[in-house]
Amino acid sequence: MRIGIIGAGEVGMTLAAKFVDMGHDVLVSNSRGPESISERLAYADSRLSPSSVVKACNCEMVFLAVPWTKIGEALPKGMDWGGRILVDVTNIFLSYEPDFRVDELRDDSGSEIVSRMARSARTVKAFNTLPMNTMFAPRDTGFRRVLFLAGDDPSAVDDVQKLVAELGLHPVPLGSLATAGRLMELNGPLSGLELLTPIR
Ligand SMILES: NC(=O)c1ccc[n+]([C@@H]2O[C@H](COP(=O)([O-])OP(=O)(O)OC[C@H]3O[C@@H](n4cnc5c(N)ncnc54)[C@H](OP(=O)(O)O)[C@@H]3O)[C@@H](O)[C@H]2O)c1
Repeated sequence: MRIGIIGAGEVGMTLAAKFVDMGHDVLVSNSRGPESISERLAYADSRLSPSSVVKACNCEMVFLAVPWTKIGEALPKGMDWGGRILVDVTNIFLSYEPDFRVDELRDDSGSEIVSRMARSARTVKAFNTLPMNTMFAPRDTGFRRVLFLAGDDPSAVDDVQKLVAELGLHPVPLGSLATAGRLMELNGPLSGLELLTPIR
């Protein structure tokens, strides 16, 4: 599959490396342009291409991996997503260390906001409930780490679920963005919850 990633930070580059290892073609983008990414690549792999945001957004599945405060700038305006899958990995931090302020969304949620900003995409919330270094930390053989997903389009959730399983994680789809997406949000009961399940 051809996967696009908006954001070439900790999440973007961690997931990009994993997807490349699995044999996918990955286009990674950031706010400063492809050259700034090429400079940082430790190794050349023909499957991993630094890209513009728009080109990355034209991939079959696109990951949104930018700070919450940047989503409006990062998602291309007026883009026709044509039903492509947008995986929202963001967490609603307004700031990081030392104060870690969380956005006050009242009756709304981050993934529903993203979904409204990209109406012609099928948005799936995933990969946001654990830090990358926990998500992919070594684990006892015989166990898989649980990864929650939420989305309003069952076939989109299904496709992301397959990718999650390929990564060696145990996907648990929980329902819609409005219900499950909120449980997965910062300060929700599933945020930061690490679960391991025996491989059957
Ligand atoms: N870190 C984790 O373990 C983790 C786990 C789960 C979820 N999350 C969430 O995932 C998101 C990304 O986290 P991160 O730790 O990867 O952040 P990060 O290391 O700070 O990287 C953010 C990336 O977003 C890019 N970016 C910023 N504004 C952009 C724009 N307008 N257009 C395109 N790219 C833009 C930055 O590119 P430039 O440098 O060129 O601006 C940078 O490559 C956040 O919402 C975070 O809360 C993080």
